[in-house]
Amino acid sequence: VQKTYIMIKPDGVKNKHIGEIVNRFERAGLAVERMELGMVTPEQAAANYAEHEGKPFYNGLIEYITSGPVVKMIISGDGAVAKCRSLMGATNPADAAPGTIRGDFGLVMDENVIHGSDSPESAEREMGIFFA
Ligand code: GTP
Ligand code: MG
Repeated sequence: VQKTYIMIKPDGVKNKHIGEIVNRFERAGLAVERMELGMVTPEQAAANYAEHEGKPFYNGLIEYITSGPVVKMIISGDGAVAKCRSLMGATNPADAAPGTIRGDFGLVMDENVIHGSDSPESAEREMGIFFA
């Protein structure tokens, strides 16, 4: 069974979308394997977003993801990586379809409610960062 790393970002927690988001994953037939509310350390943030280092939005991204509690999750199921990405919707909430998590709860690109691994390889790497 495939596993993926999902993280409800600080705005998703602050705006009280935890229950609704977990509900959507479970209704899609996926299972919650691990779940933890807590802060992201600067080291974890840098490791998770290493691919974006040097980009103009990088510093803001690190500041934001470490700014308040997040919900760290491992979600499992057949095709969990792609299923979760599809439930999440496009990166920019302005482009995300209604009925997706970012389409329904997101407002801006910088605060887009949720993170999900973009491949099975990323999932393995990210699960190691957050659930060592
Ligand atoms: P994550 O699940 O958070 O990794 O999002 P993603 O995989 O859909 O997008 P990506 O990994 O390319 O970017 C990571 C995060 O950086 C996004 O969720 C955005 O919040 C932010 N980001 C990416 N591109 C831009 C951009 O062009 N401008 C700004 N302001 N933020 C961006
Ligand atoms: Mg990404």
